[in-house]
Amino acid sequence: MTAVVRTIPAATEWVQRQRAEGKSIGLVPTMGALHEGHLSLVRRARQTCGRVIASVFINPLQFGPGEDYQRYPRDFDRDLSLLEREQVDAVFHPETAEIYPSPPLISVCAGNLGETLCGASRPGHFNGVTTVVAKLFHIIPADRAFFGQKDAQQLAVIRSMVRDLNFPITIEACPTVREPDGLAMSSRNAYLSPGERSNATILYRALQRAREMIQSGTRDAPNVEAKMREMIQSAPGAELDYARVVDRDTLAGLREIDKEVLVAVAVQFGKTRLIDNMIVAP
Ligand code: PAJ
Repeated sequence: MTAVVRTIPAATEWVQRQRAEGKSIGLVPTMGALHEGHLSLVRRARQTCGRVIASVFINPLQFGPGEDYQRYPRDFDRDLSLLEREQVDAVFHPETAEIYPSPPLISVCAGNLGETLCGASRPGHFNGVTTVVAKLFHIIPADRAFFGQKDAQQLAVIRSMVRDLNFPITIEACPTVREPDGLAMSSRNAYLSPGERSNATILYRALQRAREMIQSGTRDAPNVEAKMREMIQSAPGAELDYARVVDRDTLAGLREIDKEVLVAVAVQFGKTRLIDNMIVAP
């Protein structure tokens, strides 16, 4: 049976009950509109934790003005039945006012890590993410929390928050789950028109090309970035945001590729912004 927990006191009680039974707890934070990417995190959590709780909460703080907060897909019944099928022990699904009874006066700042890459075109986004994730970690003091490599910058920001602020939790990264044609699964793929959907494979193709270049000996990061930019800019309907080769932990730009790097792209198709990335070893 999957318990549905809607309030903070009910979450506290659920956690205490699992602790009394001596169970370790795995937390999978999501915004719902679940797909196989989310479910892969849940399955990983089930393998490593005695109890698994997923959260489904669309965090208004991480959406900028003009972004898709209003139209973000909401279907809790569908999400719940998917999580039940995965035998998740509990789902935390609070109202917005339960998490933000009033606008927070104090928040967690993602710092420089939150200002580069996606942070440059989404100012404040990562502060919204760190603030809600810090709150979730306090409301549900789990042993481990599971995040997707798909959102590589989010992962780097959360790892850094946990390290810098001494959160007693282990962060586990899970590989990106893709559609058969390589497009990374995302709740936002549902916004794409059929034409945009087929052109959206350019993100994965550009990353694959970057990997080929690096693995066949290219060491010059700007050269790899230029190739990705050229490919993306020639795809119909694709508006390039960035195509970068960066340090996987600090997200800082690189000239020479002499260690494992994060290759990351962001592309706008109409109103839909897509991101993808690969970790590549030379
Ligand atoms: P959301 O976009 O719903 O994603 C929830 C988790 O699923 C994140 O850790 C994300 O990286 C992971 N995920 C999404 N697509 C994936 C894919 N194709 N393969 C593997 N994992 C994937 O990320 C958020 O929500 C929010 O920012 C949140 C962390 C919940 C804070 O509000």
